[in-house]
Amino acid sequence: MIETSRLRLRPVVLEDAWRIEELASDYELAKTTSNVPHPYPKGGAKDFIKMVAEKEKKGEIILLSVIEKSSTQLIGLINININLTHNRGELGYWIGVPYWGKGYGTEAAKALLTYGFEETGLNRIYAAAYTINPASWKVMEKIGLEREGVLKQHLARAGTYYDVVYYGMTRDEYFERS
Ligand SMILES: CC(C)(COP(=O)(O)OP(=O)(O)OC[C@H]1O[C@@H](n2cnc3c(N)ncnc32)[C@H](O)[C@@H]1OP(=O)(O)O)[C@@H](O)C(=O)NCCC(=O)NCCS
Repeated sequence: MIETSRLRLRPVVLEDAWRIEELASDYELAKTTSNVPHPYPKGGAKDFIKMVAEKEKKGEIILLSVIEKSSTQLIGLINININLTHNRGELGYWIGVPYWGKGYGTEAAKALLTYGFEETGLNRIYAAAYTINPASWKVMEKIGLEREGVLKQHLARAGTYYDVVYYGMTRDEYFERS
């Protein structure tokens, strides 16, 4: 469990599935992700949660539900995919469309970055976004990740290839700055 001023980040439970499906079914949300399907399959969130539970047992992912404290509603998901060999994590997140623009994405990402370095002991944390998704790469900039470069047409979605920008921070950089 991670607390910030307005959010609670807690492990995902099977009962979150309906709400995840409700928010993630919005095309506006799915279209800038690499892995949220559209249309979202019925029952897909339950399968997703079960699949993640298996990876969690192996220490390969931390997936947390983002809860708005004031409403106690689930408003998003945030995760770090962990590569154990290289001791690095890839940050990923989505916030439900009705909750965009309130700083929640930044608040949640900052908290998980701190957790990843201070509690999980990762050596590097990075994140990637389509270059056409400023909301996401601005979150990366606002939490202090450094722009590392653009991979051209790196990801395909619905028949279109997208340039992807990578941002990252090493453990040394994190502790030098904090
Ligand atoms: C990316 C996402 C999580 C951001 O969440 P959020 O809670 O709205 O983010 P914040 O409110 O913390 O805003 C972050 C910054 O992005 C800016 N921003 C938000 N939407 C924007 C847009 N459409 N164009 C440009 N900037 C935008 C905000 O203004 C803010 O910058 P500022 O503080 O300098 O003004 C959310 O847009 C989302 O879930 N998108 C769909 C899923 C997704 O793309 N996930 C990332 C995959 S890599």
